[in-house]
Amino acid sequence: MSRLSVLSVASECWPLVKTGGLADVAGALPAALAPHGVDMTRMVPGYPAVMKTIGRARTLHAYNDLLGVPARIVTAKHDGLPIAVLDAPTLFQRSGGPYSDVNGHDWSDNWLRFAALSKAAADLASGIVGKGGYDILHAHDWQAGLAPAYLTYGETPRRPASVMTVHNMAFQGMFGADIFPRLGLAHQAFSIEGVEYHGGVGYLKAGMALADAITTVSPRYAEEIRSSEFGMGLEGLVRGRADRVHGIVNGIDPAVWNPAHDPALAATYTPKTLAKRLANKRAVEAAFGLDSDEGPLFIVVSRLTWQKGMDVLVEAIDHLVGLGGRLALLGSGDAAIEGALHAAAGRHPGRMAIRTGYDEPLSHLMQGGGDIILVPSRFEPCGLTQLYGLAYGCVPLVARTGGLADTVIDANAAALAADAATGLQFAPVSYAGLSEAISRAIRLYHDEATWQRIQKRGMAADFSWAASGRAYADLYLNLSGKHAST
Ligand code: ADP
Ligand code: GLC
Repeated sequence: MSRLSVLSVASECWPLVKTGGLADVAGALPAALAPHGVDMTRMVPGYPAVMKTIGRARTLHAYNDLLGVPARIVTAKHDGLPIAVLDAPTLFQRSGGPYSDVNGHDWSDNWLRFAALSKAAADLASGIVGKGGYDILHAHDWQAGLAPAYLTYGETPRRPASVMTVHNMAFQGMFGADIFPRLGLAHQAFSIEGVEYHGGVGYLKAGMALADAITTVSPRYAEEIRSSEFGMGLEGLVRGRADRVHGIVNGIDPAVWNPAHDPALAATYTPKTLAKRLANKRAVEAAFGLDSDEGPLFIVVSRLTWQKGMDVLVEAIDHLVGLGGRLALLGSGDAAIEGALHAAAGRHPGRMAIRTGYDEPLSHLMQGGGDIILVPSRFEPCGLTQLYGLAYGCVPLVARTGGLADTVIDANAAALAADAATGLQFAPVSYAGLSEAISRAIRLYHDEATWQRIQKRGMAADFSWAASGRAYADLYLNLSGKHAST
């Protein structure tokens, strides 16, 4: 059977560039799909760190004018896997983050930066540039949302099937109608069926309206986005295309997240050697300047935002500390939340500490040494930190929403009796809901035999890409029409 070729385009990709879970997923997909007959090339923007990491690269195509700027598509191999990079220095060679400047302000030309990425991906996937094109174009999030539009309204010699994956409905990439003439799309694209959205241009909307399939990153979120609460204005489109919407839960990359071989840990371990986690717990305490004791160590690794319920966490910290818990928090984001967390740390020296900024090795160590990871999100398309917690025996305490609800089995009486529990779920996301769950977690933690059973059950859970890799591969195969000829 011939293999399928897929071009996966995203604004982030681990280990080249990461601000969140999108990078982990875009980075993990090629290895997840290879056993299922799929050869995936990833495409990312040529941010400074990306250009530096890939080093010498081959020019596949040089544009004199890609939506008004000079650009090249270059290709390289990273970790043995092919990468295509849009090298457009006027758009991407800047200090700051992938989406914002050093002061956290979104780049004012994000519409152009990610339109150019989408256009180059569509050109490459359809064979307008490069060699022969791909069977499938897989676009992730709003930054790649125009790619299906460029396929639909472009002059393409070959039209690959397209998949639009929504990692987060809250980020839709909405811009004014004034940008439309500069996108190089045929005028009929500015329509309800196309890129038009509330009188402007909607990048995610365009991708969802025009791709051959829509996926999102958990079955429960695929249901939730049919409602206005979670659909955030796009629920009508989701319902209208319901037969094309698939919920495929994320897995985790065992080459990157595995406590038996993790260079960031003070001590590596397996389910049989759980006691070695203590060395990591001591290392986390030391890293955060927390007291060292036998009580439960809660951790949080998160963007500090309303989505993640971090404002509710702030309210519950006194309760957590009052019950003998400690909290180590790594995150960055909303300045007001950050300030409130610093204030809480100031109230509870030795019991609660915060590290702001981004620290990948520390995030691993915390999973390896924490007892409980808190994920009190108001909505969560999938969530990865609870999956890392499961893999590392750091028991997840999660809000009952989206992918969190799909991946954690609550330690209620029935689940405990059946030895099925892997963590704790709570609802609603409120002070009462969260603090009650924290109390429950601490009671369970002190029942050592039960606690270890929960840890081991979590570590044994299937959070691999096996089933989801197959689900994506089946979807690609159906869309490509290749199954008929093989
Ligand atoms: P989201 O993508 O919505 O932020 P996910 O749970 O899917 O949430 O993924 C978050 C990813 O980012 C995880 O890999 C997590 O470990 C990582 N992460 C979040 N904040 C930090 C931070 N401050 N330092 C290091 N890693 C972080
Ligand atoms: C988004 C979502 C998160 C998901 C990640 C990867 O950032 O907020 O829930 O895990 O994408 O799919």
